[in-house]
This record gives sequence, structure tokens and C-alpha cells, in this order.
Amino acid sequence: MSPLRFCCLLLFIGVVATRFDLTNSARILGFFPSPSKSHLIIHAAVADTLAQAGHNVTVYGSLKNVIPKAKYKYIELERKTQDNLIAAAMAGSSTPYKLPNVVKIIASVSNDSLTHPRVQRLLQEHGPGDFDLVIVGYFMNDATFALATHFQCPLILSFMIQPVMAVNSFIGNPNELAYTPNVLGNQKQPMNFVSRVKNFISVGMEMALVELGQYFQRKVYDYNFPSDRYPPLDEVRKNVSLIFTNHHFSQGPIRPNVPNLIEIGGIQIKEKPDPLPTDIAKVLDESKEGVIYFSLGSNIKGSHLNEEKIKIMFNVISKLPYKVLWKWSPTELPGESKNIIFRDWLPQDDILAHPNVKLFITHGGMGSVVESQYHGVPMVGIPLFGDQPSNMVNVERSGYGLAVDYLTLSEESLNNAIQDVLNNPKYKEAVQTFSRLYRDRPMTPRETVVYWVDYVLRHKGAKHMQSPAVHMNRWQLLSLDVIGFLLAIVLTISVVIVKVCKLICCRGRKNKLPKVEKAKKN
Ligand SMILES: *[C@@H]1O[C@H](CO)[C@@H](O)[C@H](O)[C@H]1NC(C)=O
Ligand SMILES: *[C@@H]1O[C@H](CO)[C@@H](O)[C@H](O)[C@H]1NC(C)=O
Ligand SMILES: *[C@@H]1O[C@H](CO)[C@@H](O)[C@H](O)[C@H]1NC(C)=O
Repeated sequence: MSPLRFCCLLLFIGVVATRFDLTNSARILGFFPSPSKSHLIIHAAVADTLAQAGHNVTVYGSLKNVIPKAKYKYIELERKTQDNLIAAAMAGSSTPYKLPNVVKIIASVSNDSLTHPRVQRLLQEHGPGDFDLVIVGYFMNDATFALATHFQCPLILSFMIQPVMAVNSFIGNPNELAYTPNVLGNQKQPMNFVSRVKNFISVGMEMALVELGQYFQRKVYDYNFPSDRYPPLDEVRKNVSLIFTNHHFSQGPIRPNVPNLIEIGGIQIKEKPDPLPTDIAKVLDESKEGVIYFSLGSNIKGSHLNEEKIKIMFNVISKLPYKVLWKWSPTELPGESKNIIFRDWLPQDDILAHPNVKLFITHGGMGSVVESQYHGVPMVGIPLFGDQPSNMVNVERSGYGLAVDYLTLSEESLNNAIQDVLNNPKYKEAVQTFSRLYRDRPMTPRETVVYWVDYVLRHKGAKHMQSPAVHMNRWQLLSLDVIGFLLAIVLTISVVIVKVCKLICCRGRKNKLPKVEKAKKN
């Protein structure tokens, strides 16, 4: 290419780029105050997708940034609420009676984020028109929705799992509790009578939690957004333009969704794997018989685990006739074996994407389970704490693998599970079938995010998508008022008919009586 042509090309690219910026780039504020890393990973993926699409994205989060190379600008909000309180609350979140405590702690985290000096400065220095869109990572933090009210721009929510009742209520998404299992109830579709009773009860529990959450949120809202300058919280809640849910119907349950509930399940997973480090790539490419990938997550170190259990894992794994990539600190090696390659860190997502990976031995963390499902790799889980046991229960129930109990772990139990998942093709078939369904979509999760955010921006909040259900109360939604009204009419008419009948009968009798008397006289 001649220098002149090259210059022209550069100029052309420059012009196109500026035009793109001028016409398509929106100023977007991402507000992700949830103190959970697994939540942030999902919301951050949404924000990064938008930044990569050319938007000017600023993210406020209450943890360290989880995507260091992200194109958004990240501002960390240190919390006053202590980590150990949060950790204790989150650990208890699988036990229903501890949930009120979670709701309360989350409210104080919402308050920490809004009262943080950096957010206060943002609110004081910037006003209407300074942002074109606010995206809030939803986790019982309704008070923070008011950021969109402050900037007078549309509000989008990002949510980590399938929609729960609180999420449904913002956009009038139906709960359909006769056949849609509630997240707290943990029932399976189709539900029989007993399941439906359990589901109904869990819906009651969730409604109570939602009420409690709203009570705490109203306090946080009233403190941060005084009523002389801001509308009531209920008005703010009803102004959600669209919700992204990190779920896909192929995961079940099957349910109807309103048009502004958009599924982006798997947004946090790379669509194309990055190239593997050459030594790892060589092992994977050359082991046609298959490779096992073993990782107990990013937080677990040898020193956290019982030495005896590690020895059990090593003894089983070193005898397997496969190469094993084991993510483990090289300073804490349980032993040496020529089939095991230990690494301090391994690119998990890219490894699971390799066709020669035959099995994933995992702690059952949500991120790991989803990546394994996405890439169609069967699992053996050794769940340790938090949501890991229940994640593995779901994996077992779906037939994607087996779980072994850590506390009673033995060479026999671990080996049996590994042999079963390696040798019985049903696990691989089940997870690969799911993987194909999960990935078969008209647009990838990233394309979906970009399209719908642009859609909301183009149509100034896209209020035409809003279901009228948002502005109706529970009685109206169940048509109880109409049923009551019609019953009242039927009742009134029945009463009238009965009265009239009685009247006619009585008159009839009166008319008849004299006849009888006449007859008697005759
Ligand atoms: C991005 O948006 C922020 C907030 O409105 C603004 O301060 C900043 O100048 C913008 N950056 C660019 C490159 O437009
Ligand atoms: C509701 O959303 C619109 C844009 O969709 C915005 O202009 C307006 O300020 C918002 N109102 C409230 C009360 O949040
Ligand atoms: C929110 O935080 C501020 C500042 O720390 C505190 O004064 C206020 O009482 C808190 N409000 C609520 C509802 O927690």
C-alpha cells in the first residue's frame, strides 16, 4: 500500500470512528453495589460488552474490579459494612429463616454505596442529562434505582439468575405460580399437587421477604433521596425500562415473559476461547484419549483443606490412566505423579472449551458449573461451602455429573464417582445436549445486550414495552376484584330471585287459600 493510500485509509477510519462516537456512543452509568463477586462478574460483563461496543461506560462497584482489562472506567466504593458480616449473611442465604438477616445487611450495603463520598460527589456535580442510561445490578437494592431518577434517564436492571418475584414485580412479569417453580421453593417442573402446595408456601415466604426488603429500602431511599426533591420510591420502582436476566429458557423452568425481560444467560462466558499457553495447548492437543481438569476454585488453597483429604484426592487421581491438569499451588504439592501437571493458575474457560477435556473435577462454584455446562463437560463435584452443595444437587438432578461429600470423602467414594462419570456415556450426552440447546440462539448474549440497550436509548426508555400490570395491585392482577364484583351481582340477583319467588309463592298461597276455604265451604 502506498503511503498516500495508507493516509487516506487512516483518515477514513478516523472519520468513521468519530461519526460512530458522535451518533452511537451513550454515557452509561453502571451501579453494582452487591458485595458478591459472582454477581459483579455478571454485571461487569454487561458493562464491558457495552464499553466494547463504543459506549462511554462508568461503573461503580463495592468490590475490586473483576475485569482488569475492561474498557469501562471502574470506581471502587469501599464499604462500611464489614466483610465478615456480609460473608456470614451470604453463607446463611440457603437457609430460609436466615434470609431476613441477608435482606437487612444488603440494605446497609445499599446505604453504604449511596452515602459513599464518591457517589455523593457524583450526585452533587452531575445532574439531569449527564448520563443517558443507568444500569443497576439488582440485589434487593431498590433505593439505588433513584440514580436514574436523579439523571432523568432510563433505567435497566441486570439480574444474576432467573427472575424472582421482586424482579417480576418491577415490569409486571407474571409469576404463574401454578406451574412456575419459585426460586426459594426449589421444585421441578412439572409440579404435582404436593409440589404446588410447597411452591405456594414458598411464594408466601418470598412475598414476606420482598415486603421486608422494601421496608428497609424505603428507609435508605428516604435518607438519601429526600421527598422535597425526589418522587416516592414506588414511582421510581415502576420506571424500570428493561431487565436483563442471566438465564436461558433451556435451563428451565418454562415460563412466559413480558417483552422487556431479556435473557442473556452466559454473558460472562467468553464466546471464543483465547489461545492456550503453548505447554498446556500441547498437552491437550496430544492427549487424544482425553484430559481431566481439576480445580477447587480460585479461593481454595491447600492450607484450607484437610491434609488427609488432599492425600485421598492425590491417590485417586495419580492412578487414573489420563493426563490431569490440576490447579494447585506448587508450594503445597501433595506428591508427584507423571500423569499430573500442577499449575498455580490455569485459564479454566479456555481449557474447558478444548474438545479433549473429558471430565471436570470441581468445587461446584456457580461460575465453574455454568462454564462446564456451556462447554458440555461432565462434572464430578466436591462441594465445600456456600451455594456449592446446592449447585451440585442441580448438576446431579440434571444428569451432568455426580457429587461426592467432602466430610466423608474416601478413595473409594471419589474413585467410584470419577469412574462412573468417565465410563458411563449418559453424563456426557446429557451435558452436551444441554450445551447445544443453551448456545442455539438468534443472537449471542453480547449481541443481545448491545441491541436492547441501543433499543431503549433509541426509544427514550421504550415505555411502549411496559406491561400495564406494573400499575395494578395484587387483587387486580388475580382479578379478585372482578370476581368479587361478579359474585356480588350473582348474589344480589339470587337474593332478588329468591325474594320474588317467595313473594309470588306467598301471594299464590294467599290466592289459593280462599279457594280451599271455598272448597271446604262447598
Ligand atoms: C464519559 O462520560 C463521563 C460522565 O458523563 C464524562 O465525564 C467523560 O468526559 C466521558 N468521556 C468521554 C471520552 O466522552
Ligand atoms: C422515568 O424514566 C424516564 C426515561 O425512561 C426518565 O426520563 C424519568 O426521569 C424517570 N422518572 C423517574 C421518576 O425515575
Ligand atoms: C445511611 O448511612 C448514613 C451515613 O452513614 C447514616 O447516617 C444513616 O442512618 C444510614 N441510613 C440507613 C437507613 O441505614
